[in-house]
Order: sequence, then C-alpha cells, then structure tokens
Amino acid sequence: MNQMDFDKATILVVDDNPTNLKVLCGAIANSGWEILVATDGESAIEQTEYAQPDLILLDIMMPGIDGFETCQRLKANPDTQDIPILFMTALSDTVDKVKGLSLGAVDYITKPFQTEEVLARVNVHLKLRYLSKKLEMQNVELEKIVEERTEQLSQTLDNLKQSQIQLVQTEKMSSLGQLVAGIAHEMNNPLGYLIGNADLLNEYIYDLIEHLQLYRQHYSNPVLDIVKHDKEINTSQIIKDTKEVMSSMRTGIDSICKISNNLRTFSRPDNSHQEYLDIHECIDSTLMILKHRMKANRKRSYIEIIRKYGSLPYIACYPGQINQVFLNIISNAIEAFEQSGEQSKLMLDSQEKNTITITTGLNDSVTCVSISIEDNGPGISPKNKDKIFEQFFTTKTLGQASGLGLSISKQVIEYMHEGKLICNSEVGKGTEFIIEIPIR
Ligand SMILES: Nc1ncnc2c1ncn2[C@@H]1O[C@H](COP(=O)(O)OP(=O)(O)OP(=O)(O)O)[C@@H](O)[C@H]1O
Ligand SMILES: [Mg+2]
Repeated sequence: MNQMDFDKATILVVDDNPTNLKVLCGAIANSGWEILVATDGESAIEQTEYAQPDLILLDIMMPGIDGFETCQRLKANPDTQDIPILFMTALSDTVDKVKGLSLGAVDYITKPFQTEEVLARVNVHLKLRYLSKKLEMQNVELEKIVEERTEQLSQTLDNLKQSQIQLVQTEKMSSLGQLVAGIAHEMNNPLGYLIGNADLLNEYIYDLIEHLQLYRQHYSNPVLDIVKHDKEINTSQIIKDTKEVMSSMRTGIDSICKISNNLRTFSRPDNSHQEYLDIHECIDSTLMILKHRMKANRKRSYIEIIRKYGSLPYIACYPGQINQVFLNIISNAIEAFEQSGEQSKLMLDSQEKNTITITTGLNDSVTCVSISIEDNGPGISPKNKDKIFEQFFTTKTLGQASGLGLSISKQVIEYMHEGKLICNSEVGKGTEFIIEIPIR
C-alpha cells in the first residue's frame, strides 16, 4: 500500500454472523475501502495469504478454529504477520481483549458496533500501517544509499592510498635521479678537460719522440752526459711504454665517458612523456647504478651479470618509470641472494655461482619486446608467490623494505605501458621476472 492507494485499502472482515457482516460491510463500503469477507478462521487465513489485505477485522467465536487460533497462525507466518488485526469482542469481555492483544492484535472493536468508532479505529490503524510501510521503504532506500556511499568512500580511500604510494616512489626516484644527474653533470667538465688534453698530450708526446729521433739521426755521437742519462732512464723503453700508457689512458677516459652517459640515461628527468628508448641502454644504466652491490660481501659471493641481448627496436616508454622497474626487479634479485635461512645456506654450500641473467628479444608473434630477468637465488614459495605483487607485502626486515617495489612495477608495466609483468619461481632453483612491452 502506498500513498496513492491508501484510500483504496483492502479490509478483510471475518465473522460467521450475517448481521454483523452486513453492518460492518455497510460502514466500510461507504468509506471507499475494498472489502473481503470470510466466515471462518481457515478460509480467513487462506484469503489473507493470497489477497494480502491491509487490515483484518477478526471475530473471536466462530465455527472451526476460533479468532485467537486464527490470529496466532497469521502471526506465525512471515508473509502475513505484519498485517494489523483488530479483534471484535463484546463490550464487557475484558479477558478476551487482553488475550487478543497479547497474541499480537493491534486493537479491538466492541459489539454492538458503533459505526463511527469502527471507522475511526480502522482509519487510525490503516494510517499506522501505511506509515510503517513507508518507513520500511525509506529504510531500505537509506541502506542502499549508505552502501553506495561506503563503496564510493572505500574506492576513494583506495585511490588515495595508490596515489600516496606513487608519490612516495616518484619522490624517491626523482631524488635518486637528481642525485645521479648532479653527479653526471659534475663529471662533465673535468671529463671534457681530460678528453681534450689527453688528445693534445698524445700529439705532443709523439712530436717530442719524433724530434728526439731526429737528434739521434743527426748527432750519432752525443756528449758523455747524454749517453749516461740515456742509459739511466732507458729512453727506448720509455718510448715503447709511452704508447701503451697513452692507449690505456684513452681506454680509461672512454669508460668514464660511458659511465657518464649511463648516468644521464638513468636520470632522464621527464616522466610525463613517452620517448622512444633503447631498452638495452636503460638496463645497462641501471646495472651500472647497482654495480657496487654485486660485489662479494659477508653473506654471499660476487654476483655475475650475464647479458643475453637480442636485437630490439626502440620502444615508446616513460624513461624514469621503466628504469624504476629494472631497478626494483634487479635489486630484489640482489637482495634474494642475501636472504638468510636454510635455502641460501644450501645455495652457498652448492658452490654454484650467483648469477643474474638478463635476456631480451621479441615475443613469438613479434608484437612485444620481452625482457627476462632471472636469478639463481633461493626462489619464492608458492604461498608467497601469490602475494608478491600486493602492496606492502614483504619478507624483508620492516624499515628496510616497504613491500612496494613489485606492486609499483606491475602498475608501471601493466597500466602505464599496457604490457605484462609475470613471475616464475621455484624454491631452491631461482626466480624469473618477464616484462613484456607492446611495440607501437
Ligand atoms: N628475485 C626474487 N627472489 C626471491 N624473492 C623475491 C624476489 N623478488 C621478489 N621477491 C619477494 O617478493 C617480495 C616483494 O617484493 P617487493 O619488491 O614488492 O618488496 P620488497 O623488496 O620486500 O620491498 P621494497 O621493494 O619496497 O624495498 C619480497 O619481499 C620477496 O619476498
Ligand atoms: Mg623490492
């Protein structure tokens, strides 16, 4: 029953006495309510179940089950228990009134009926019924709204957490990037002097040697002091060595140049645009940043890097982010070799070399670049493997690790680059992370 059909409410009148029925029906019909009639308890229950009246007027004394029993059964059935029941009782019957109310009836009307009173009471209880139904509906509505809001709030909270993590990592990476860029920049000037002066020095030295040889040609009998000094310093040997010294200096300078380039590659500042990148350059620059961590220490021996690079096209990537992924995955591999516990002891005993193998190539359908970073460390248990991409999951000492490396890497690869990040691992054998980035 809603607001609209409150005036068209249905009332079931249950009485075996035709005179009573006539009086009641007459009164009710004039008010515009619809009337249903039953003359015994059983058929009253049946009608209530299928017609779902809005109110029941129930006589007590009837053939078959009486009004009390009828009321009890209606109240026991969840489908009918909310329908208000008004007992009809003789004026003097206090016991019946009390019993009826205690069985769940909401009110009573007394015989002989006063039409005005009957209508007034029916009206009140229909209104109550209508209001309580309305309240029920509003409650349902309200609960739905609360549920929706809660859902929205928790979504917002999730988003907030994500951006917070992203922010922390971006901040971490950008300060690392700034540091590295600073170092690369500071190296630049002295490196420039070195390159320029080394070339010049090389030229001068060759000129001087040439000049010395001219002297020897034209003055084949020098004075005794010169002969003595020549012997002392072993001029021929110096001339021979100088060539080697110059070439090894050149090699040294070249490798400092390479380091400086790598540092600049790693610290590419712009994270807002994609760039076409040489993935191998990115991996190499990351490896260089991590080079000092490959050395042997108290917990483990030296870690060897094995590069198995295929030929790759340039790939559209966010440089800072992609370097961050390589940094996270390779750092994890290095840290895995340091894990305490039985597995790593076994690994130490087995005398197997610690290796990280990086293999690159195109996938079978040539739609993706595939980068595999594989270590022969302790591996990951199946139970932990299900959780490694979760935020804050870590098996490392809290405070030292945040458990964010892989969850961020997954976001970077799968959301920002529309690629895939997969982990294969076997306890005691090692772990492999495969990064796939689509070629566009
Ligand atoms: N190569 C690996 N070998 C063994 N376990 C690994 C390897 N890589 C990741 N794991 C496991 O996955 C967990 C989650 O890695 P993740 O990089 O997300 O967090 P973390 O390294 O613990 O902390 P953070 O990277 O934030 O400093 C690690 O704690 C470790 O247990
Ligand atoms: Mg990590």
